[in-house]
Amino acid sequence: MNTSRILLIIGGGIAAYKSIELVRLLRKSGYVVRCVLTRAGEQFVTPLTLAALSENKVYTNLFDLKDEVEMGHIQLSREADLVVVAPATADLLAKMAAGIADDLATTLLLATDKPVLAAPAMNVRMWLHPATQRNVVTLRGDGVTVLDPDEGEMACGEFGPGRLPEPTAIFAAIEAALSSPLPLAGGVGGGPVAPSVLPLDDSGPSDMPSPSPSRKREGDLRGQPDFAPENHRPLYGRRILITAGPTHEPIDPVRYIANRSSGKQGFAIAAAAAEAGAEVLLIAGPVPLPTPPGVIRVDVETAVEMAEEVLQGLPVDAAIMVAAVADWRAADTSAQKIKKDGSGAVPPLALAENPDILAGIARSPDRPPLLIGFAAETNDVIAHAGAKLAKKGCDWIVANDVAADPMGGESNRVHIVSKNGIDSWDRLPKAAVARKLMEKIADELDARSPRQPD
Ligand code: C5P
Repeated sequence: MNTSRILLIIGGGIAAYKSIELVRLLRKSGYVVRCVLTRAGEQFVTPLTLAALSENKVYTNLFDLKDEVEMGHIQLSREADLVVVAPATADLLAKMAAGIADDLATTLLLATDKPVLAAPAMNVRMWLHPATQRNVVTLRGDGVTVLDPDEGEMACGEFGPGRLPEPTAIFAAIEAALSSPLPLAGGVGGGPVAPSVLPLDDSGPSDMPSPSPSRKREGDLRGQPDFAPENHRPLYGRRILITAGPTHEPIDPVRYIANRSSGKQGFAIAAAAAEAGAEVLLIAGPVPLPTPPGVIRVDVETAVEMAEEVLQGLPVDAAIMVAAVADWRAADTSAQKIKKDGSGAVPPLALAENPDILAGIARSPDRPPLLIGFAAETNDVIAHAGAKLAKKGCDWIVANDVAADPMGGESNRVHIVSKNGIDSWDRLPKAAVARKLMEKIADELDARSPRQPD
């Protein structure tokens, strides 16, 4: 039986009736549900129905909070474990993205320090409108989980994406959101990190993006000094940045370009670095892997977002760039799904080159003392890795022989290529590769700059 507390904000729209079923599902599973109805929401469902189903008072108006005495709006927004907005109308999403607080629902959304999940529902044109798409990107960047709407026939007679996901799907997303760690307020290591500026190329303007406002940070560094086993903290006092997973480069709202990557090796490295006592910042592309204990995780979608977060994460003692970053992105992203017109004509797809994050930070004034790249190769593994070492300007390349084992496997055979030579390891489970790599990194950092005693 789940006793988590859900604050359910119900926006206006024909889909609001589905929130009744959602409340029923949540209550059946033991959740404590408090409902807030927007003024528009009240046109579709009544406070009385929701109060009866949730067995709780329903809140509708900021100003009739005589409950300020019993429960102020700040308390209302924070006593929940998760804030759910369903249906999230275009108007609500826009207000959330802009930080507007002009009624009870939007005031709660601005005041909350809890994770927020939004299930959009609106007319297909409104969903596909660039303004709504921009707002969704902003909200996701702020750490809000915005579900994709369902596609199908709409109440207004049109067809396309915009339908509220089914209550069972929203329920499943709520359970998933509650089972992942809460986002940390504030920056890495408990304090914001000063952004750094990266000149990519001396000869012209940088194609590296500037640091962004902070995205969602998951995980907990507070316990870092006690996290690693007492007698084994070779990386204690070190800061390590890791990129992992693929990047997704959108073509239109439903399609993207990506490299094949499970993220398993990068996540194993993040776990091993934290186990070895390091402060770990993991910048992860879209992968469904849990955040390892003791790791701060920032989720990104695209190479440009990943580059922004890497910039924000510097300076560090070592950066390990494991991510399979897409080399290209669509030059123009379509705000609407590109349709087959039946003629057999293929739509043109112009590409733009993504920033090379690794090469960029190699040339930056904040270059980490130890900079490590990865290379997945199917042939001439070591020769290619040697060439990449020079091209990228990093200290080591971990060359990964993927000929025998497809991406996403559980083991890796790697060669660490540096200017000092090649260190070839047997095929090992990814966790073992990660631990061995941490020992090597700790030795290297200690040789360069001995750590201060604890
Ligand atoms: O050029 P290639 O993709 O083979 O290089 C692999 C290495 O470079 C990896 O460490 C990867 O994380 C990094 N990389 C990057 N930014 C890119 C492409 C690759 O950081 N745009």
